[in-house]
Amino acid sequence: MIDLHTHVLPGLDDGSPDLESSLAICRAAAADGITDMVATPHYRNGVGVRDTAVIPAAAAALREAIAAAGIPLTLHHAVEMPLLEDYLDLYRGGAWLAYDAARRYVLLECPPFPANGALILSRAVDALARSGATAVLAHPERLPFLDRLDDVLRLRDQGALLQVTAGALESHSSSGHRAREWLSRGLVACVATDTHGVDRRPPLLSPARAFLASRYGPRLAEALTETNPRKILAGESVG
Ligand SMILES: [Fe+2]
Repeated sequence: MIDLHTHVLPGLDDGSPDLESSLAICRAAAADGITDMVATPHYRNGVGVRDTAVIPAAAAALREAIAAAGIPLTLHHAVEMPLLEDYLDLYRGGAWLAYDAARRYVLLECPPFPANGALILSRAVDALARSGATAVLAHPERLPFLDRLDDVLRLRDQGALLQVTAGALESHSSSGHRAREWLSRGLVACVATDTHGVDRRPPLLSPARAFLASRYGPRLAEALTETNPRKILAGESVG
């Protein structure tokens, strides 16, 4: 399985505080059947990196430590970008690190906007698309303003991909209800852990995969935890 959203790099944001914690996350992920993990530190917004140029070096250092520790896990890196005023410049200038080499897929942290959030998000998704980027929406299930299905369908039609948090799938919260509603309608592209530590949104996808398989069938479970994430990393179209 492939986890597209983690805060595994040590000391860069509110995720892993140190190398030891990072390796613990990696060990737990590998034991869960995760073969590939993407480090997606926060950018700015108080807790994140101030310059994404630090991310490749931090990922390279953790990659070496993973290899030295003998953990069977491939580490990739990108960034979790909030919707800042200069998001288009950040993409066009290359600071917004993408999932894939062709810079097609970027991870967008959905803003906790009020009632008109869907419109703001829709405009951003559209502007990114016109610049050649497909927005992968991080934890959209947390956004009350996406309760209107029409707004979600519009985002989908604009090309956005919904990345739902693994831990939300079985939740009785409003986030869980939104996630399951979208899953039942085939609107979710992938599931990711958004892990911040072994105890804080743990780096596990197998419980989510089992839940998806039992409720929606093994094909969808495989698509959301493996096939689609692999396509995103390769820059290929997600069907
Ligand atoms: Fe995150």
